[in-house]
Amino acid sequence: MNLNRGNLPKIAIIGAGKVGSTLAIALSRAGYAIVAIASRTPASAAALAQRLSAASTTIQDAFILADLTLLTVPDDAIVPLALQLSEMGDALRGHAFVHTSGAHSLDILKPLAAQGALVGSLHPALPFASIETALNNLPNTVYALEASSPILLQWLQDMVGALNGHTITIPEGQKSVYHAAMVIASNYTVTLYSLAYQMLHSIGASDAVAAIALNTLTRATVDNLVQQGLPNALTGPLSRADIGTLQAHLNALECHHPHLVPLYIALARSTYPLLQARGVDVGKIEQFFMDWEMTNENNNS
Ligand SMILES: NC(=O)c1ccc[n+]([C@@H]2O[C@H](COP(=O)([O-])OP(=O)(O)OC[C@H]3O[C@@H](n4cnc5c(N)ncnc54)[C@H](OP(=O)(O)O)[C@@H]3O)[C@@H](O)[C@H]2O)c1
Repeated sequence: MNLNRGNLPKIAIIGAGKVGSTLAIALSRAGYAIVAIASRTPASAAALAQRLSAASTTIQDAFILADLTLLTVPDDAIVPLALQLSEMGDALRGHAFVHTSGAHSLDILKPLAAQGALVGSLHPALPFASIETALNNLPNTVYALEASSPILLQWLQDMVGALNGHTITIPEGQKSVYHAAMVIASNYTVTLYSLAYQMLHSIGASDAVAAIALNTLTRATVDNLVQQGLPNALTGPLSRADIGTLQAHLNALECHHPHLVPLYIALARSTYPLLQARGVDVGKIEQFFMDWEMTNENNNS
């Protein structure tokens, strides 16, 4: 979507990393004026500024040319940055500052709000492994928004619309619930993939074959989730209450990867609500796990 520049807030970026660069490039393509870039390392700011024909400035000066400054620095750097900027005092009045952390609410920008700035947060629910990949995946991203004033909320909603995204409003005090959900879905998918990778390695699979097997499996699973949704996307022995197969898995894990047994059982138990929705006999499965745990406890004591 290309918007009329006249109505749009002018944007500055502090933190020329993956998120800052991706949003700056995407917003510029959508018609926003990116007026200033600053970063810890001047060369990072200069490279992005050159790409967008923006000014490369010091951290203190970036917001002066802008209406809205995105603070796209690591989570731990947000508070020190807000404190550093708050020293600009009255010059901050009426300027908007928005961080992109999923872990923190807008409260951590209190030092800026205390000087009369508008504050907010805009968290893109997307893994930014690289700028180019993130630019490709950006359409249809959901953004969690918070804003200290209606005008800032409107600016953020317009920005998300211009990026072809969607918004989720987080009830007060619930941002960590939202962020933990995103971490479970994205980061722990990578963890589970890596565990499966190590298991395939342990039986002699090459890197190439392990990657092909898991990439195809993971992609098809996501396709099933997109096309069939919950609970129908679930396949495998739990969905068939196939106790013999569960028994074989636990025996093999106990023998070759014993540290994975508690995780395997915990994940199976977390799947019960999906199984119940599919009409599977969860009682039979739970009885099997309880028996298995008791037998193993007795054997190990
Ligand atoms: N990565 C993700 O998947 C993702 C997704 C959603 C939201 N976020 C959030 O977006 C924010 C940025 O994450 P990111 O992944 O883009 O991090 P990143 O790639 O590490 O980029 C952070 C940038 O900020 C600069 N910087 C570091 N400390 C600074 C400071 N004190 N003052 C000014 N600039 C500083 C960095 O240094 P140089 O100038 O030295 O290059 C770097 O360019 C975080 O709040 C993160 O939680 C990340």
